[in-house]
Amino acid sequence: MSRTVIRGGLVVTASDETHADVLIEDGRIAALAASGTPAAEAWTADRVIDATGKYVIPGGVDVHTHMELPFGGTFASDTFETGTRAAAWGGTTTIVDFAVQSVGHSLREGLDAWHAKAEGTCSIDYGFHMIVSDVNQETLKEMDLLVEEGVTSFKQFMAYPGVFYSDDGQILRAMQRSAENGGLIMMHAENGIAIDVLVEQALARGETDPRYHGEVRKALLEAEATHRAIRLAQVAGAPLYVVHVSAMEAVAELARARDEGLNVFGETCPQYLFLSTDNLAEPDFEGAKYVCSTPLRPKEHQAVLWRGLRTNDLQVVSTDHCPFCFTGQKELGRGDFSKIPNGLPGVENRMDLLHQAVLDGHISRRRWIEIACATPARMFGLYPKKGTIAPGADADVVIYDPHAEQVMSAVTHHMNVDYSAYEGKRVTGRVETVLSRGEAVITEREYTGRPGHGVYTPRSTCQYLS
Ligand code: URP
Ligand code: ZN
Ligand code: ZN
Ligand code: ZN
Repeated sequence: MSRTVIRGGLVVTASDETHADVLIEDGRIAALAASGTPAAEAWTADRVIDATGKYVIPGGVDVHTHMELPFGGTFASDTFETGTRAAAWGGTTTIVDFAVQSVGHSLREGLDAWHAKAEGTCSIDYGFHMIVSDVNQETLKEMDLLVEEGVTSFKQFMAYPGVFYSDDGQILRAMQRSAENGGLIMMHAENGIAIDVLVEQALARGETDPRYHGEVRKALLEAEATHRAIRLAQVAGAPLYVVHVSAMEAVAELARARDEGLNVFGETCPQYLFLSTDNLAEPDFEGAKYVCSTPLRPKEHQAVLWRGLRTNDLQVVSTDHCPFCFTGQKELGRGDFSKIPNGLPGVENRMDLLHQAVLDGHISRRRWIEIACATPARMFGLYPKKGTIAPGADADVVIYDPHAEQVMSAVTHHMNVDYSAYEGKRVTGRVETVLSRGEAVITEREYTGRPGHGVYTPRSTCQYLS
């Protein structure tokens, strides 16, 4: 039996902050005891990690990543190997990525393909959601089987007609099915049919620059789709999780529905909290680096998102990590913003940016852990194995130095992408050591993990329902 003790740190979970030593046995948390007490002093171990002056936090749970996603004629530039290594560098120890059903094919084929990409390559544990692009009688039956085998959430798109898009009837049917089988529908809420009209009209006017991506994908069309998704879920009697919420008007829709007592939940992402349409308007096509959907919004939306995170109208911050290199990938959209592959890199930056938000007074330290670790784990059936530090949990633990300063940059990051969305941003706080099931993936800022350590992690159904 291998034993590790982490001594002297401040253990921060979603519910507590305690000066405690943590005993790890065979990859799991075995016990916590107040530092300096006889109980803690009595522990012997093969390895002792000194966390004096540091935080001891659960590994991050990022429930929205797209490694190797095919999009717009190219593929997201991080593989499961490079992307999960970068995640570990940033203090994330679990990802839930999106397997994709292509139109005309089965869910099973899509899921098998994603298993093949990930198997044996990941540095940290991973699970899958399923993108349902083709709702039909067969797909609906397959949803039940997937829930039974641990793929308990399904993403649908009200955007991207002709690619991932589902119409309201398909959405309602999938929601009705999830109401029966316990699955959770995750909605990309933007009115894609209307947006495509505005795209066509903008291009006809010669408006080809990346900033027009933000103008045509209107906040009102995010809010409208959010409202429609909420009401369809209400009719179906199903819970709903709205992904990548960026518009204050969409937050208002979620807040109203929650006030009515509906089981609707919202996720936002660091890019909506820290970046804005100012970035999309950067000259010389630099704005392409910030093209994602839902799009970045004017700065005034940020305060509403932060408030939503404090008041629990928004519950989760995940990254929607979907990197495309500027050179050769984002550049596909020179002269036509609608051809810029959609997505931003960020899997490595989330824990640090949210720690900076603690220092900036947006959220508390415990709320940081709640929105980045505990709630995503609960929402997607991974708790308490993931998302907390408690006896029985997997020893996915980060030793976090809250005083170290860093400057975010593509020169120093580990994601396989040639730019940083946060280039030059100074933040205080940095990951020092990362354990995944007790094994050191990062040791005092050296990568000590290995591809294949990370394993597929089946999930139970949502544990967050009221
Ligand atoms: O722009 C984005 N978000 N790309 C990834 C696909 C999605 O819609 O989440
Ligand atoms: Zn097929
Ligand atoms: Zn989406
Ligand atoms: Zn996404």
